[in-house]
Amino acid sequence: MTTKVAAYPFQIQSFEQYKIVYEESIKYPEKFWATVATNFQWKKPWDKVLEWNFKEPKVEWFQGAELNITENCLDRHLEKLGDKPAIIWEPNNPNESIRTFTYTQLFQQVCLFAQVLQNNGVKKGDRVCIYMGMIPELTIAILACARIGAIHSVIFGGFSAQSIADRVNDAQSTFVITCDGAFRGGKDIALKAVIDEALNENQFVKKIIVYSRTKISVSMKNGRDVWWDNEMKIATDQFKKKETNYFPAATMDAEDPLFILYTSGSTGKPKGVVHTCAGYMVWVTYTFVNVFQYQPKQIHFCTADIGWVTGHSYIIYGPLCAGATSLMFEGIPTWPNAGRFWDIIDKHQVNIFYTAPTAIRSLMGFGLEPLKEKNLSSLKILGTVGEPINEEAWHWYDENIGKKKCPIVDTWWQTETGGTMISNMAGITPSKPSWATLPMPGVELLLVDENGKEVSEKDEHGMLKGNLCIKSPWPGMLRTTYGDHERCRKNYFSTYENLYFTGDGALKDENGFFRITGRVDDVLNVSGHRIGTAEVENAINRHLGVVESAVVGYPHEIKGQGIYAFVVYNGNQLNEKETRNDIVLVVNKIIGSFAKPNKIQFVLGLPKTRSGKIMRRILRKIAMGEVENLGDISTLLEPSVVAAIAKGRI
Ligand code: WTA
Repeated sequence: MTTKVAAYPFQIQSFEQYKIVYEESIKYPEKFWATVATNFQWKKPWDKVLEWNFKEPKVEWFQGAELNITENCLDRHLEKLGDKPAIIWEPNNPNESIRTFTYTQLFQQVCLFAQVLQNNGVKKGDRVCIYMGMIPELTIAILACARIGAIHSVIFGGFSAQSIADRVNDAQSTFVITCDGAFRGGKDIALKAVIDEALNENQFVKKIIVYSRTKISVSMKNGRDVWWDNEMKIATDQFKKKETNYFPAATMDAEDPLFILYTSGSTGKPKGVVHTCAGYMVWVTYTFVNVFQYQPKQIHFCTADIGWVTGHSYIIYGPLCAGATSLMFEGIPTWPNAGRFWDIIDKHQVNIFYTAPTAIRSLMGFGLEPLKEKNLSSLKILGTVGEPINEEAWHWYDENIGKKKCPIVDTWWQTETGGTMISNMAGITPSKPSWATLPMPGVELLLVDENGKEVSEKDEHGMLKGNLCIKSPWPGMLRTTYGDHERCRKNYFSTYENLYFTGDGALKDENGFFRITGRVDDVLNVSGHRIGTAEVENAINRHLGVVESAVVGYPHEIKGQGIYAFVVYNGNQLNEKETRNDIVLVVNKIIGSFAKPNKIQFVLGLPKTRSGKIMRRILRKIAMGEVENLGDISTLLEPSVVAAIAKGRI
């Protein structure tokens, strides 16, 4: 068996090379990934590169190897890149000072905070819930967990107390790291108060470490709650006494969990997606370097929140493993005005800018005025993630931000995939507006029909259309759902035999390019946030007057999808306006305001089959305004409800 892979560099340099590397990566995955993995620092090399079956599923990469991801993010860069900025932090308020952490400084902070964690009793394997705003201490907390081998479970700052309680309980997190509050645009958000509410009945959280960001007063429970700054002082003194600023990195097995990140699926309960140390590290770094074609000295600005997977992979782990400078922004794109992103790009001379289509569409809505006197000439590469990008937004981005000289990478991936799966590589492989295009090396895609059979019949435009599946493992894939492996199997590996099912539909053109058309399951994508319809329904149903509800998505100009709720109400007298407000409040309380319905229609009954299943297909059509063409409704229990619902459409 011959392989040419060893001759190819870590970073692919041309389309020709991509084609060869791709082919070899599929033919000889073990050799290919072993070659890629030589670019990292291991405490002990692997015995076997890959072992897998999708039946259980069991996937293990770099079996027997030992490492610590923070040695790859920090220690190994110190000699050559010690004085290079690792993190540049732009505060919410543009008048506040920026904060920069060189690799040496970040390393020192991570070592100190690892000591703090140890002082507070955190051990390898413990789950640590992190609920903070977008400040450098969030990155420090995450890396310090990884340094001592604790499993971090970051919860997005927009989640409510109830959602936090569910996640803390599911992961059995024994430690929490939070802030007094967070600044986001014109708002101050009280994080510690939300944590207090979430942990009201909690018995097993031992310590809460609180970083003071907004200086609002918070209640601190004696013996449980401690201040970040005090703890850091104690650790600093300990280091001084020992004349060290080093905290040894825990030795992790390649397949030890690195983190849990909760995400929505089609059932009501969020799933704790588990990523492990070695495969995730190799995957996010390899994809970062290749997709963005990162060059030394470039400044990378990913606008995602670290509460979502994009922030984990492309603000923290990918860029830092690659020795890049990662810009972290605390605020929002429209505050103090809609030119904020563009100001940040000019101020910090950003080279790579990675954002979500919903942000682009919302900024498009402000016209070209906020772009006046913005230079943007530092930009080299643009990227999008999180949802399909419509052509109009793609062209606006290309013309007004990239000035037609920056390749745009449209990166398709998921919380479960750890990093980018389908994307063009900037300036190397071809792009096509609103197409994610080609798979990364090592990613074997398949489009199947409802029965799991590979689609082979082209439509009238010469395209193949089907449900997007992945045939073989890649290093960054999820390994399990926390505490419930069967759930992982059922959710991802049971729809089609021996395939990972993404939940997305896709088209494939004559060049083999892929275009993601959106979810084919009951998951919505609202402003790039994944929300399960069942979760929203469960929340709405908690309103006392609600008998039942059905939630569907509908096209929304800025958010991509909006949430349309059909609600059967039982209250004696229905004051529609008031009840709508109440329902929105309940959803805010149970999930968070980002999941609130945009439209609520009160109905007398929902269209159901004789076996009681809600016919969402019909509701989706009504929500989209296709009331004329609802298909066959004769099999419904009560076909008459449909006309009434269609008539009352909002
Ligand atoms: C959607 C975000 C089209 C898709 C990284 C996927 C996309 C879900 C794209 C995962 C893209 C993500 N084009 N659709 N470039 N990127 N999606 O877990 O439906 O928050 O299944 O991960 O977002 O969302 P998640």
